[in-house]
Amino acid sequence: MGLFGRMIVGMLPIVPRFFVGWIAKRYIAGKDLDSAVELMLRMQEQEGACFTVDVLGEEITDIAEAQGFIEEYERVLDRITEHRLDAHLSVKPTAFGVLLDERQASVNLERLLRKAAEQDIFIRLDMEDRRVTQATIDICLRMHELGLTNVGVVLQARLLRTPADITAITEKLGPAADFRICKGIYLEPAEVAHTGYREVVDAMNDCIEAMLDSGAYVGIATHDHPVIKHSLESLTARGMGPGIPDPRKGAAPERSGKGPGYEFQMLLGVRGNVRRRLKSRGHKSRVYLPYGDRWYEYSIRRLRENPDVAAHIARAFLMPWTNRR
Ligand code: FDA
Repeated sequence: MGLFGRMIVGMLPIVPRFFVGWIAKRYIAGKDLDSAVELMLRMQEQEGACFTVDVLGEEITDIAEAQGFIEEYERVLDRITEHRLDAHLSVKPTAFGVLLDERQASVNLERLLRKAAEQDIFIRLDMEDRRVTQATIDICLRMHELGLTNVGVVLQARLLRTPADITAITEKLGPAADFRICKGIYLEPAEVAHTGYREVVDAMNDCIEAMLDSGAYVGIATHDHPVIKHSLESLTARGMGPGIPDPRKGAAPERSGKGPGYEFQMLLGVRGNVRRRLKSRGHKSRVYLPYGDRWYEYSIRRLRENPDVAAHIARAFLMPWTNRR
């Protein structure tokens, strides 16, 4: 898979922009908020889907640029409320300035979180590369100290530090801890991360178990069959499942728009058939829905960061029966 992906990434400079756009259409809801809302309404009606909305763009170079993201996300909040969508937000802290001025990024996120809290909407802080892991966690903890509990972080199973982060966060937040766990898209070096497929899967499964055992809310973000299978077994072993009130001792009461202590999460356009199957069995299954006019930069950056993504996309394109939208 690695070589195939790297070959595709090597060819990117000669791939016409319109072709990238044509492929990206599957994974991105559109260029603007209207397109995103339209798609959410359609998917809600057709398959009862729920969402986490990402405004494309990250790592600003001037702190003033964060203002544009705050305002766009505020518009998203209003549209979610207006259309009564089952949706929350996913935000990238670097788009709010965390690499430029952590204090100001925190102020920016606080503003958005306050508005979201008024509308009873949750915000997920996406996890970016390891330069911002600690700052992202710190901001989340600071927001909880301010009484803004409608926020949670993503942790990346591939990072060696993640088990310690789960312990530290759950010790501080107790059942208010709300995680998304994913493998981690950024291919970090072996000094700080697992690098082999099997090790990453094992680490992901261990993290899911640790999070479930802590009483935290767990968003299981994967399309990988072995991880999904392990998650379903872990849930069953704890008496958790669709329609069952969270049986874990000390767990938080079910919050609006959330599952009974857990949910599955998948990217728009990736293994939709698996997501729909989980949903039809009663599991809350959330779609990560990116939109925005920076789709080209976003697509190219993702492919360069992780050439496996290029290979997945090529396979989904050439063998559509293996990966339905
Ligand atoms: P794996 O990579 O093994 O994929 C399993 C199968 O799924 C592949 O064989 C392929 O068929 C399909 N597939 C996976 N990705 C695909 C793609 N892009 N296009 C087409 N097919 C694909 N990472 C991070 O570092 N920070 C974050 O905040 C997030 N947030 C996040 C939210 C949600 C909802 C999801 C699902 C994922 C993330 N990620 C992320 C990305 C995550 O870390 C990881 O890189 C991808 O989910 C791929 O890992 P899988 O567990 O799906 O396994």
